[in-house]
Amino acid sequence: MKGLILAGGSGTRLRPFTHTGPKQLIPIANKPNILYCLEDLRDAGIVDIGVILGDNQPEKVRELLRDGRDFGVRITYVVQGPPRGIAHAIGCAESFLRGDAFCVYLGDNLLKGGIAAIVREFKGSRAEAGIALCRVPNPEMFGVAELNAAGHVVGLVEKPKEPKSDLALVGIYLLRDSIFDVIRTLKPSWRDELEITDALEALRAAGGTILAHVVTGWWKDTGKPEDILEANRLVLDELASNVEGTVEPGAQVSGRVAIGRGTLVRSGAVVAGPAVIGRDCVIGAGTYVGPYTAIGDRSVLEPADIENSIVLTDAHIATRHKIVHSLIGSHTRIDEDEHARPKGTRLVLGEHSRVRL
Ligand code: TTP
Repeated sequence: MKGLILAGGSGTRLRPFTHTGPKQLIPIANKPNILYCLEDLRDAGIVDIGVILGDNQPEKVRELLRDGRDFGVRITYVVQGPPRGIAHAIGCAESFLRGDAFCVYLGDNLLKGGIAAIVREFKGSRAEAGIALCRVPNPEMFGVAELNAAGHVVGLVEKPKEPKSDLALVGIYLLRDSIFDVIRTLKPSWRDELEITDALEALRAAGGTILAHVVTGWWKDTGKPEDILEANRLVLDELASNVEGTVEPGAQVSGRVAIGRGTLVRSGAVVAGPAVIGRDCVIGAGTYVGPYTAIGDRSVLEPADIENSIVLTDAHIATRHKIVHSLIGSHTRIDEDEHARPKGTRLVLGEHSRVRL
């Protein structure tokens, strides 16, 4: 079986982060989302993996994954360019995928339990397609499946006003060659995309069985900033402690905390896990890093008071204002000048920034 990870799309809901790269590279607990997908495929025994590249700085995906060897897989890049839908992206990879069943994984999805069970089920079946479903409290926000008593899919609707179930479509699809002929017949939807739900519905209408696998652990689609913070919390909930950096006497580190090589936690700093701090950071005296925080490599917090937040790499924070529920981009500087006149908050914010004061 082959794999296909989608790393295209426009990621408009994640601006300004997607001004500097594809959303699939945004780190969750200090690891780019796409690597979780890649590892799930590999751990399910799928090592021949295509990666769909969009038109938003695709070279950054190549820089991270290269030929896949570092991650124990073989990568083939497929250029989609501007986003024209998930089904369109799959169609672009036809020559790579043809001749084998394959597993499509949306590169901004995150699944607790991995995909080995669903891959095994599909391999042992004669189904034309397999989908993963997750029970959600707000199905009207998702693609929703209706199942019959045998657990087969009898209907798929994108964001229904009156959902027939609470089973949302997870971004994982198991498919065979038959999908390519279907994709060729699809018409663009109202949002001008070739929709995967339309392709699956067409397979079903032609008599194909669609196997459904309901996932038991959590699932997150990291399409919006609040989803990223939640995914970060979910991953940090399972973090194992691992201190490779230096914790000076007089610093307090408690709970499950990972601290990367070259990082210095100075005397007088407090780190309360679950939290992850990357490599070559400085956590200065008087700094508090609270639960559910991820600090990227080479960031300096001197002092800072932060929790439930993600700080990307090379950030510099020096303020006593408490920072909560925040996503802070790489190379960001946050500081304060107590004596400055006139008093007020001075901001230098890029396009599509969001600030809540
Ligand atoms: P979406 O999150 O539905 O689309 P998007 O990336 O354009 O985001 P936004 O709505 O914020 O503008 O895409 C789901 C996944 O599929 C995501 O990982 C991106 C990927 N994708 C492609 O690779 N090619 C495409 O043509 C589309 C539409 C999505």
